Amino acid sequence: MQPINPNNALDNEHCLYVAGSGGGKTTAVKKFGRIKGTDQVVFWDPHQDYDTIQQRKVRRYKTFKAFFAALRAARATKRGFKIALTVPESRKNFLKFCEVVKGFGDGLHAKRLHVVIEELPQVTESVGKEVGAYGWLLTVGRKFGFIVHSVAQRVVEISKTAVSQSVYKWVGVQFSRADAKRMSDETDVPLSDILNLNPLEYYFKSPNAGNFKKGRLTF
Ligand SMILES: Nc1ncnc2c1ncn2[C@@H]1O[C@H](COP(=O)(O)OP(=O)(O)OP(=O)(O)O)[C@@H](O)[C@H]1O
Ligand SMILES: [Mg+2]
Repeated sequence: MQPINPNNALDNEHCLYVAGSGGGKTTAVKKFGRIKGTDQVVFWDPHQDYDTIQQRKVRRYKTFKAFFAALRAARATKRGFKIALTVPESRKNFLKFCEVVKGFGDGLHAKRLHVVIEELPQVTESVGKEVGAYGWLLTVGRKFGFIVHSVAQRVVEISKTAVSQSVYKWVGVQFSRADAKRMSDETDVPLSDILNLNPLEYYFKSPNAGNFKKGRLTF
């Protein structure tokens, strides 16, 4: 399957979530609000982190075949859905997931298609340019309705494509100075402010220089 109807009127809304373990990344994806209950969402979810999001149940599939069939049926409607793929965490499986999802792109669909990638560093091969279907989702996917949410414990272990194309950045507690420094450079949030973050606290950077705000996740 190939994506259809490229639509340049669609904005880039890709978002990156970076924090050390326990910093609140998965919680941010679930609660921060970039993803709504009415949205159409697929998850690369090898560790089964997503059971519900925004009070909606996540349907989980453990084979590509079942995942594809569920996504095809759901995407044929205008209704929201939450569908996760849980297969062994390998680069090969990840790229296959991205390739399958890519086929459901449609720039004129009533709903954009959100794609959540958990623990991106585990399936990253190079910190250089991202190649393959994941790189396509990040660089071209917007026109076909995709909104990619990439989650990583360490920014220095993901590709520069993932960092630069994710124009929204959620920054939580950083465990190394190298990561804090890089996120400071990427967001314009002063390094000392990033170093002072506690778990569940964050800075959220929107496109345009200097445009960030501080917050804290609650349950
Ligand atoms: N439902 C909940 N109620 C209360 N606290 C929670 C709940 N879910 C998570 N937490 C707490 O929130 C903090 C952040 O958890 P979260 O899973 O979002 O971190 P994370 O950044 O995704 O970590 P990891 O990289 O290990 O996946 C943890 O201290 C966790 O105990
Ligand atoms: Mg997590």
